[in-house]
Amino acid sequence: MNPPKVYIAGHGGMVGSAIVRSLRQQGQTNLVTRTHAELDLTNQVAVRAFFGREKPDHVYLAAAKVGGIHANNTYPAEFIYQNLIIAANCIDAAFSNGVKKFLFLGSSCIYPKLAKQPMREDALLTGLLEPTNEPYAIAKIAGIKLCESYNRQYGESHGIDYRSVMPTNLYGPGDNYHPENSHVIPALIQQFHEAKVNNVSNVTVWGSGSPMREFLYVDDMAAACMYIMNLDKATYDQHTQPMCSHINVGSGTDITIKALTTVIAKVIGYQGTIEFDATKPDGVPRKLMDSNRLKALGWKPAIALQDGLHITYQEYVSAIARAGLSDR
Ligand SMILES: NC(=O)c1ccc[n+]([C@@H]2O[C@H](COP(=O)([O-])OP(=O)(O)OC[C@H]3O[C@@H](n4cnc5c(N)ncnc54)[C@H](OP(=O)(O)O)[C@@H]3O)[C@@H](O)[C@H]2O)c1
Repeated sequence: MNPPKVYIAGHGGMVGSAIVRSLRQQGQTNLVTRTHAELDLTNQVAVRAFFGREKPDHVYLAAAKVGGIHANNTYPAEFIYQNLIIAANCIDAAFSNGVKKFLFLGSSCIYPKLAKQPMREDALLTGLLEPTNEPYAIAKIAGIKLCESYNRQYGESHGIDYRSVMPTNLYGPGDNYHPENSHVIPALIQQFHEAKVNNVSNVTVWGSGSPMREFLYVDDMAAACMYIMNLDKATYDQHTQPMCSHINVGSGTDITIKALTTVIAKVIGYQGTIEFDATKPDGVPRKLMDSNRLKALGWKPAIALQDGLHITYQEYVSAIARAGLSDR
């Protein structure tokens, strides 16, 4: 039997590139990728033509318009439109061209703002969303519901099996270090690296340091994606419901921002003092996914936070060196 042809949408992004690394490590060579410039996934005609030509067997959808609070607040129309249309185009074109297995990547922001912690899969649609990222979250919820609806209508007749995963906060090589858009780990890495190289004796971190957050190294996320994609249908069905079919992917443990800051400073080798500016906003006190569904399915993460941060920092330093060389 020929190996399946696998399309990874968004292969240039942090998660997509980790999925490609993981698939290659597993010996999968029949991979299809397109850059954003080669294939704009918001273009329905182009997406249909691409699926019709390439006829992949499996699809990982890791392409999305992503951004932080500032971007979500400033461009809500782009966030809802592009993410809705990317999901709808890809899922429908996949179905129309015989794709049997599809993995949709969502996000923990699909859960209500006041969801009970840790957040279980069945907290979906039980309350109001965080207003800042509501447009993005609605598009991600629609992606889950597209997968479920295609399964419910066509699962048996066409043998399709479309699944969804909801990652916690991810970090690792390929992360976004843009000053306005970066998440907490890349922002802290950048801040402490600059303080170290410029011999700054004190770093002030925004917020009280008390909020608790969960993090997962991106290669663990990629491994989880492959694990979930490859689970046999009976096992997947046994642990999910047709209208609550998504699976949380987290490390299962959270850490205060203060403790995270200490680990990052140590990894970087910053020896100055650290202060917290409690006048700056903290966000919600705690955000942790309940990943027991995934645990019960037999998967757990392999990379400890400190080890993942070491690799991430090495990659950050190499990227700076490469950028420095290309500036000359
Ligand atoms: N990073 C996290 O902490 C995190 C946490 C939870 C969930 N996720 C989910 O994981 C997925 C991937 O996130 P990521 O962090 O890897 O994001 P990323 O690094 O920004 O990658 C997204 C990729 O999608 C591509 N893309 C965007 N719009 C496109 C379009 N219209 N047509 C074709 N390609 C397009 C981007 O290409 P360009 O850059 O060229 O536009 C980029 O390669 C997203 O669904 C996100 O919601 C991420």
